[in-house]
Amino acid sequence: MSNKKIGILTGGGDCPGLNPAIKAATLKALEEGFDVVGIRAGYKGLMDRSLMPIPLDACSVSAIDRLGGTILNTSRTNPFRTAEGIDAVVSTMDDYGLNALIAIGGEDTLGVAHRLHQERNVNIVAIPKTIDNDLSGTEYCLGFQSAVQVITDCVDNLRPTAESHSRVFVVEVMGRHAGHLALAGAISTGALMTLLPEHPFDLGQVANLVTQHKKHQPSCIFLVAEGAMPTGQQLSLISSQKDAFGHLRLGGIGQQLAESIEQQTGYETRAVVLSHLQRGGVPTAYDRMMGFRFGIAAIEAIMLGKFGYMAALKEGRVGVIPIAEAVKTLRVVDLASGYDVQNLRPLTKILCS
Ligand code: F6P
Repeated sequence: MSNKKIGILTGGGDCPGLNPAIKAATLKALEEGFDVVGIRAGYKGLMDRSLMPIPLDACSVSAIDRLGGTILNTSRTNPFRTAEGIDAVVSTMDDYGLNALIAIGGEDTLGVAHRLHQERNVNIVAIPKTIDNDLSGTEYCLGFQSAVQVITDCVDNLRPTAESHSRVFVVEVMGRHAGHLALAGAISTGALMTLLPEHPFDLGQVANLVTQHKKHQPSCIFLVAEGAMPTGQQLSLISSQKDAFGHLRLGGIGQQLAESIEQQTGYETRAVVLSHLQRGGVPTAYDRMMGFRFGIAAIEAIMLGKFGYMAALKEGRVGVIPIAEAVKTLRVVDLASGYDVQNLRPLTKILCS
């Protein structure tokens, strides 16, 4: 038993890459003489003491890096919704004897982390995670690459049936208000088009591009981000209910588009929604590697007293940035350097822009 104890929690949507980060942080912390506990179900585990923390040791984390999801469970819990909630987080950390907390999450989890540090002086460091890859100040968030791999595999699986039936397929992918998944997925699958939240699209233009393509190829597959919108229209929603952070549940644009294309072109068009499959499966090699690097950086940040900081990838190197910088604005797709608005596809310019 040491008198230094670290808690680790995972908040928001799960994804592959969380467990490799938990493993790396745990092993490094043990090596440096800390005790480590896993906080269950995100911040909820610090508000509800019936969710007892899980002691983490070399044995319990040894094989988790090849597993998807999070062994700690997760939730979209916002302790700042009530004064009691946030008081409970601070007093539970105290009672559990935690000297520091590692929060692994996206904009919501890290928004809370930032406030906990600023307003309640909590010793907190963060690790970026979200398949949306939309935190500022870091080129990578855990889970993104694994999600792109799922999209790639699913579209590869879709091709034989699309070709056999000469059909048009619209594949709806996640990403909320950022188009990184849809853009990267379009590159890796060779999709005809990709529609992004950053660029409202014209339904007629989409139908024209399908018609042009069908002149020389019988089938056609393209991607649409769940947050993409036809010009002048609203976001497509599955439900108008908001989560604890005020987010609406997006979805439905794929089906809407399929109907519009079929009606405009006369070609049989189907929609496929990849939904939570994109957060499933095991972490890719890259997510295991990044989980390892971010996990170690988080412990080093604690040892250096860099509280209020987040592990981040910049120009290929892992360092730390203030959490405040990561959550200041969403990092969305830069259309000018990445998207061809004429052809609604990834830009085919790299050196000569
Ligand atoms: O932020 C990750 C994400 O997968 C988004 O791409 C998506 O809109 C959202 O989470 C879905 O959240 P939930 O799992 O709560 O439905």
